[in-house]
Amino acid sequence: MNLKGRHFLKLLDYTPEEICYLVDLAAELKEKKKNGVAHDVLKGKNIALIFEKTSTRTRCSFEVAAHDLGMHVTYLDPSGSQIGKKESIPDTARVLGRMYDGIEYRGYGQEIVESLAEYAGVPVWNGLTNEFHPTQMIADMLTIREKLGKFEGIKFVYMGDARYNMGNSLMVTCAKLGINFVACTNQKYFPEAELVATCQEICKETGGSITLTEDVQEGCSGADVIYTDVWVSMGEATDVWEERICDLMPYQVNEKAMFFAKDSAIFMHCLPAFHDLNTTVGKEIYDKFGIREMEVTDAVFESEQSVVFDEAENRMHSIKAIMYATLGADQQ
Ligand code: CP
Ligand code: NVA
Repeated sequence: MNLKGRHFLKLLDYTPEEICYLVDLAAELKEKKKNGVAHDVLKGKNIALIFEKTSTRTRCSFEVAAHDLGMHVTYLDPSGSQIGKKESIPDTARVLGRMYDGIEYRGYGQEIVESLAEYAGVPVWNGLTNEFHPTQMIADMLTIREKLGKFEGIKFVYMGDARYNMGNSLMVTCAKLGINFVACTNQKYFPEAELVATCQEICKETGGSITLTEDVQEGCSGADVIYTDVWVSMGEATDVWEERICDLMPYQVNEKAMFFAKDSAIFMHCLPAFHDLNTTVGKEIYDKFGIREMEVTDAVFESEQSVVFDEAENRMHSIKAIMYATLGADQQ
């Protein structure tokens, strides 16, 4: 498998074999790290991290992974560059491409990261756009394989806002890997029809399936994985909270939803999560609407079935694998 020089913008661009290769490579690099085996094979390389939205996991994963691989990092924060305001994306890409061996971008429209990739001349990695969050996918699939031992044939249920970056990306990834994907939510939050049709076509090859349902019992029955994400994403207007709470509260991941799933089911969340009142936003929502927990209850978040912190750790190992492969460390 040779992914040297490839961008990593969305999983639609990758074959099932390439996705599995990245998951295997992430597992291998995780093992090396755990055993203290050095893997600083990209010494002398430099990468730029552009964040137009905030981050904890993605930024830290890129920084730690780059350090472990022997690379240097420049971090450009949401206000610390000229990007978009004084300099266009194609111009920025051509400047950074002269200095760096790879560029991570987190921001708004998918077309921005696609344009950056078109002009950079070096691999560009999508650290989250409104439409897709592909680096999260390799971590999630690594976590599923560690916990359940396989992809094909499992029932994966996504509850909540399924028409944004996480719902879209998970539907695509499940289709690619032969997983039965269910979006269990209010129909206003089903993924876009065109992307659903694309994924259904992919499923014909892989044996996966796509189901959209508003019925929690039907959606969650026999599930192997129940997954959710925040109801209002970064960059969305704050005045949508009331409508989201009304529409999505029936699709909160709580003990009832978990009861319908298999006893062996795992709970996943890309994080950050609103499951208690220990955040500023959580408190504001409580003051305004009187609810203490949003997309997931504290009981489920803290339960034995929750694998969210293993999943968060796997962000680092999988981002390392993505950089390792696209910068050609495995081709030397
Ligand atoms: N899951 C995820 O991307 O987290 P951050 O927003 O903290 O990077
Ligand atoms: N849907 C969330 C994912 C955060 C990792 C957001 O875009 O804010």
